[in-house]
This record gives sequence, C-alpha cells and structure tokens, in this order.
Amino acid sequence: MEEKYAAAQKILKKYGQERLLSNYEKLSEEKKLKLLDEILTTDFAQVEELYKRVNTKVDFKNAHIEPIEYTDKYKLPKEELERLEKIGLEAIKAGKLATVTMAGGQGTRLGHSGPKGTFDLGLDNHKPIFEILCDTLKDAQKKYGVYCVWYIMTSNENNEATVNFFEEHNYFGYPKEKVVFFKQGELPMIDTKGKVLVGEDGLIKKAADGHGGIFLSMKKNGIIYDMKSRGIEWAFIGGVDNVLVNMVDPVFVGLAIDKKVLAAGKSVVKANAHEKVGVFCRRNGKPSVVEYSEISNEMAEATNEKGELVYGESHILCNLFSVKAIEEISKNELPYHSAFKKAKYLDENGNVVTSDTPNAYKFEAFLFDAFESLDDMAILRVKREEEFAPVKNAEGVDSPETARALYKAYHKI
Ligand code: UTP
Repeated sequence: MEEKYAAAQKILKKYGQERLLSNYEKLSEEKKLKLLDEILTTDFAQVEELYKRVNTKVDFKNAHIEPIEYTDKYKLPKEELERLEKIGLEAIKAGKLATVTMAGGQGTRLGHSGPKGTFDLGLDNHKPIFEILCDTLKDAQKKYGVYCVWYIMTSNENNEATVNFFEEHNYFGYPKEKVVFFKQGELPMIDTKGKVLVGEDGLIKKAADGHGGIFLSMKKNGIIYDMKSRGIEWAFIGGVDNVLVNMVDPVFVGLAIDKKVLAAGKSVVKANAHEKVGVFCRRNGKPSVVEYSEISNEMAEATNEKGELVYGESHILCNLFSVKAIEEISKNELPYHSAFKKAKYLDENGNVVTSDTPNAYKFEAFLFDAFESLDDMAILRVKREEEFAPVKNAEGVDSPETARALYKAYHKI
C-alpha cells in the first residue's frame, strides 16, 4: 500500500492533481486502496487534454456540408419494399441481428429516481419502458421465430438497479440467456481550473462518457466477441427512451445489406425548419449529423424542387451497425464534448460543495460522431408517428404525456 501511495503521489504531482489525496487519511482501508487504484489507472494526460479543449469552439467553417440521399420507406414501390424485406428477413431468421439498448444515461430532464427504463409510462397496464421495449422483441419472435439477443448498456451508476429490475420482473418473459448487460465507461469530472473532483464517497468523481462510449465499452466488455461467437453480424443500436422504437425491422436490415454499407440510420422528417434536432448530412463527403446550432438559417430553411427541407432528415438515435463496423470504430476514441453541469463534491478540507449553478465539466462522446469514419451509410426515412415517441422531459414536449399519446394512437389502445 505504501508503494502504491508513493506511486500515486508522484503521478498527481506530475499533473498538478495533488488535491485528490487531501482527504485520504479519513477514508477506510478499503476505500484508500480503491482511491489509489483509481489514481493509478486514470489517464491524467487525457484529462489535461480534455480541459485544454473545454473552451475551444469547434470550427465548422472548413467543413463542407451537403445533404445526404435517403430512402423513404413509404414511397418505395411494393415490389421493392418486399424485396428488401425478404433480404432482411433472411438475416434476421438466421440469427444475424442483435439489438442494443443504450440505457446508461442519467435521465436528468425526466427526473425519475431510477433508471429511465424502469419508468412507468402511465398506461393502463402500467408497463415500465423496459417492458414496452421487450414487447417489441417478443412480437418479433412471434413473427420471425427468433429471439434476438438483447444487449443493454448500463452505467456504473445504474447497472445494479437495472439488473435487479429485470430479475424482479423475470426478464418480462424474455429468455434470460438472450439478455446481456454491459457497463459503459466513465470519465473524471473536473472543476473550472482543470482539477479532478473528489466525490462525496472520497473517490474520484466520474460521469458516464456519453452514448458514443458504446463502441469502446463493447470492445472492453467482450461484447463484440460475444456477438461474433453467436454468429451475429448486425446490431440495431437505439436509446432506451423511445417507446415506439422498432428494433427488429427487416426492411432496415435489408436496405443496409442491399446497399452494401456497413451502417444505416433511420430518420424522421424534421417537424419544422427550426426544430432543435440534429439532421443527417454529408460532411466532407462522409455521412454525419449536423446539429441545429451548426447550420445557418438559410441552410435550415432551404427546400428542394419537391418543396421538402434539404436538411430535413432528423437523426433519432435508431441506427444499425455491422459488427465489422463496430469493431473498426472501437479501435479509435471518438471526440469528447464537454458539458458544464452542477456537481456535488468534496473540497480539500472534506466539506461538501454544492452549487445552484453549473460548476464542473463532464465529458461525453456522441454516437453519431462515429458516422464520419464510415465511407457510406444508408438512411431510411420512417414515419414519426410509427417509430418515434421519445421520453425526455418531465412535462411538455417529448414528455411521458406526449409519448403515451403517440404509443396509444399507434397501438390503438
Ligand atoms: P440523452 O442524451 O437524451 O440523455 O440520451 P439522458 O441521460 O437519457 O437524459 P438527460 O439528458 O440526462 O435528461 C439518449 C440515449 O442515450 C443513452 C440514454 O440512456 C438514452 O437512451 N445514454 C446517454 C447512454 O446510454 N449513456 C450516456 O452516457 C448518455
């Protein structure tokens, strides 16, 4: 332990992070060891880099943004739709499709005390979101005869509560061996001076590294290996909070296979030119998502000869990746974006610091930043009222109330 302490001290001195050991003596033996291990395994050079970039705005000027081609599922001729469906069905029936639900977010806007998937949507049957998602997999089993493997990405913070919830509900009747949990990564939180924070537990204060952390964590947790060993070639990756998500869609899978691309994304038409959503585009020739804050009013309002928005294909976090693409993407880290958040932490005297305003940075990778590493991607436009009912806010837009109404209308209940 003494050796470890000395090694930790040396590292902290090198990076000016000595504050991390200021409450060390007050910790239990077990926690002391845990903190030392954390210090010895933290990449402080990366933390330094992240801090340096906190105030550098990304320069979009050099990026050449263009619209991206898409296929409208509902404008396809019947024979073409059936042809794609057949291709996708073949892959699904052969057990080549898995589904991945990203459920590692904090769901701060919703304000529910447990993991978002445990939230009761308020239907008459009181089904929690996880069960609603599971229903779609059970329906797919009835239609296609296969139980798709369901991978669920949790975070350190919510993993135990999530697994317990599945256990308590007997996996909603889904075969337990077809449900695989894995935890996403974390990054330290820092204050405005670049100092790593100590949490109330005396250990390094960390936060989940964003949905873009999925690729690295799939690699680290052996999920890519697990998929390959089960003969899985495609993974639908979606968020936990869309109660109309269509995870097993033969046309979507068929389109990707037919177009010989390694990934595909679903889009819905932007509600209006200034809706605050990211839209699919090409950036310097590569598939990408352009944020509403990145494009000019002129670009946002531009229409084509059909009168449709040129940048109108909203990204709804419903994507399909080949396992090959996941493996490639996981070889590199995606860029981290900083978010200024309210954090509770311990100061060097062991006092708890709280704040009514943001006081610390957290770092997150975005899944769609991975698109640019692909040569091409197929985009499938689907109907909002059939596939997109997000639960984000406690009230108002994208709330349980709006999602419930969309869910009821779609299922005619
Ligand atoms: P959001 O960006 O909407 O974040 O996540 P959130 O955590 O659910 O909600 P807020 O912003 O705190 O209110 C979109 C999807 O990505 C997952 C979420 O669980 C959700 O399914 N996600 C997000 C992760 O799995 N990990 C993360 O680190 C962040």
